[in-house]
Amino acid sequence: EPISNRPGIQKIKSADKRKKVCEALESLRFTENDVKQMMKVFEEQIDYANSLNEEDRKKSDLFWECTYVSDLVKGNENGRYLGLDLGSTNFRVVLVDLKDGEAKTTTKYYNLTDDQLSGPAELVFDHIAASMEVFITEEKIQSQKPIGVGFTFSFPTVQKSLKKSILVTWTKRFKCTNGPGLDPCILLEEAIERKGGLSVPVNVMARISDTTGTLMAGSYYDKKCAIGLILGSGSNACYVEHLKNFKKLDPKEAKSDKILVNCEWGAFGDNGCLDFCRNEFEREVDQYSNFPGSYTFEKSFGGFYLGEMFRVVLVKLTKAGVLFDGKGSDELMTRWLWKSRQVTTVEKDNPGSSENTMSVLKQMKLDTIATEEDVLLVQEACYLMSQRAAYIVATALAVLLNHINEPEVSIGIDGSLYEHHPRFHHHMTTLLQKLVPSTKFRLFLVKDGSGQGAALVAAVESS
Ligand code: GLC
Repeated sequence: EPISNRPGIQKIKSADKRKKVCEALESLRFTENDVKQMMKVFEEQIDYANSLNEEDRKKSDLFWECTYVSDLVKGNENGRYLGLDLGSTNFRVVLVDLKDGEAKTTTKYYNLTDDQLSGPAELVFDHIAASMEVFITEEKIQSQKPIGVGFTFSFPTVQKSLKKSILVTWTKRFKCTNGPGLDPCILLEEAIERKGGLSVPVNVMARISDTTGTLMAGSYYDKKCAIGLILGSGSNACYVEHLKNFKKLDPKEAKSDKILVNCEWGAFGDNGCLDFCRNEFEREVDQYSNFPGSYTFEKSFGGFYLGEMFRVVLVKLTKAGVLFDGKGSDELMTRWLWKSRQVTTVEKDNPGSSENTMSVLKQMKLDTIATEEDVLLVQEACYLMSQRAAYIVATALAVLLNHINEPEVSIGIDGSLYEHHPRFHHHMTTLLQKLVPSTKFRLFLVKDGSGQGAALVAAVESS
């Protein structure tokens, strides 16, 4: 749909200004052609990532890792398990108590400070060990036998076995001085040792990605769940693939004809294969990000980047002289000051209302200069940028749904962007209906699924 059709754009009185606005926002459209091309390129990259030939594999930035998790949750697992979840600013500890098909979960959050996120990795793991002890004490956990622990560690990693994995690079807000090349489960065990152990013995059994955790937790609530998706600071997916389509694993090593694949799709596009649809806003966000030139796909819609993208879009409109009288404020010009919260807040305004948008403009010292047309334009820019973001995710999801090739598939989703954005679900659904018309799909929130899923992996692997 052309941008000029948007109601807020049509309300702009001057035809000349309308034209300038449409030109400035044109690259926020994710066209039918972009969708088709992205599906094709994604499929090609999957083929390369999956290849047995090393030269071919180098042509793809997708990790496409076997998770070595042997099965989804069956429902007959019993016992108490701990899940640890490291991947966003909040570190979480989750206790899952399974009894006769019922699960009782307790989740606690332990914030990490900026110093911890940019110092030696050992500081982060000391924080994890200390938080585990606090959790064990507060929850009065007692046990002679080691408690099974699943560890959700959500960074690009090469997975060697259920437990063994090697960190490739930090992403999102993490920029510790070391870590790449190290095994997160060993770092965890060493931190527990440095503490002199915990008051309850633990057995670290598995390292998984948050996507795998979400898939496991999703499959606990809905048996048709075959995809775990993260839409939080970053993005990634894990899905149930037919073993015959996953060439990297020797079928003799497989425990069934299905395999859980961690796509690690954030890095999709790092080799330039998405250049055909990247826009100026995505390029600018990347240029000033922690790791320029990497995580191309994730940076085009991940929550950690969307606030900054919104700001960059508004700066462009301002510089074009069609917003805020061409002036703006220091807050508008400060990189990374805007978070995805500002995006979801603006999106919460219904057509015709502007209360939420005004609160964001006030925060950014733009309220006194914003005219009525400005407010509408800010809302439209936010709408179009969010719609593009959701369409990009839906496009990649459609490819996974085609692989799964089942008549009914549920997609469990964890992450603050999906949880708090009022229209993401709607946009994704709209496009998916067009792309996979014969699949009955359901997108559903699995709150804290990534951590719960880690405990569930420990349960599945123990039974
Ligand atoms: C980043 C990480 C990935 C994780 C995703 C969602 O892309 O590299 O491992 O799954 O964020 O948190």
